[in-house]
Amino acid sequence: MTPRSSTLDRVLVLEMVRVTENAAIAASKLIGRGNEKAADAAAVEAMRDALNNLDFDGTVVIGEGERDEAPMLFIGEKVGRGYKETGVGAGPKIDIALDPLEGTTITAKAGPNALAVLAISEEGGLLNAPDVYMDKIAIGPGYPQGVIDLARSAGDNVRAVAAAKGVAPGDLIVCVLDRPRHETLIAGLRALGCGIQLIPDGDVAGVIATANPDTGIDIYMGSGGAPEGVLAAAALRCVGGQLQGKLLFRNDDERGRAHRWGITDLDRIYQLEEMAQGDVIFAATGVTDGSLLRGVKRKQGGLITTESIVMRASSGTVRRVIGEHRAHRYA
Ligand code: FBP
Repeated sequence: MTPRSSTLDRVLVLEMVRVTENAAIAASKLIGRGNEKAADAAAVEAMRDALNNLDFDGTVVIGEGERDEAPMLFIGEKVGRGYKETGVGAGPKIDIALDPLEGTTITAKAGPNALAVLAISEEGGLLNAPDVYMDKIAIGPGYPQGVIDLARSAGDNVRAVAAAKGVAPGDLIVCVLDRPRHETLIAGLRALGCGIQLIPDGDVAGVIATANPDTGIDIYMGSGGAPEGVLAAAALRCVGGQLQGKLLFRNDDERGRAHRWGITDLDRIYQLEEMAQGDVIFAATGVTDGSLLRGVKRKQGGLITTESIVMRASSGTVRRVIGEHRAHRYA
């Protein structure tokens, strides 16, 4: 075994699964119940409880929102057993990006690909992105570095990826969030003959799908949440692939937030390694069935099953974890 080059303890790899499992199981009670807020609140509370049982000195850097708009797991919140028991942090300093329920609408409608998601890094390893939109482009592993470039047009990127894959542009499948703002992008892709997988929500899973040949998705394109961009970057750091992101600001308030985060170059295109650097652990548990993971199932006899994925950048190890849980413990 190669020596560790990181202060992220290996023990944390499986602990992260406990955290996302806890959030996914809590959210699963609300699948298909038409109540986005309740589903999100259940996942947030469960994830926070699980984080507060871990022996680390954690800081939420991507969370549920800024302190004044999110009651729990807000950006800057400190988590870990030390804070819960004594009010003082104890253990290794860890930065955390989280989305206890990625796909609140999906969950409310029992649609595909809702996840409980988390990434951790050493202090300073994750981009502190404000909660604004981010323009994103991603491809899976195996392409020469630099084949995608957000500064170029969508058409140029499709042609470059197609050439690198040795196929025609029209042979590529592009995943795009189904939003009116993507009308021009979609029309351009259609003109090239590309297949387009339109997803209703959940672009963390959409980006990760590019790294899984079974999905058939070659490229992810379009704008979604910046926090989701950082989470997706953490995942691609572990499994390989390329991702670029550019923050999009709709008004002065959003530009002001960027300044508060210390971001001065508002036009900067972030590379994958700038969004998630050093050693990183990414974990996700399926809430509803999707391309990445099966969702939580509540079975006869008080059994709950979960499927999770957990991966680590420094080793490149990817683990899928099937959990069987006793429902009475989550009542
Ligand atoms: P939520 O779970 O917060 O609802 O996010 C779902 C999501 O689809 C993300 O995956 C995506 O990044 C973002 O919303 C897109 O935002 P919008 O719905 O405003 O287009």
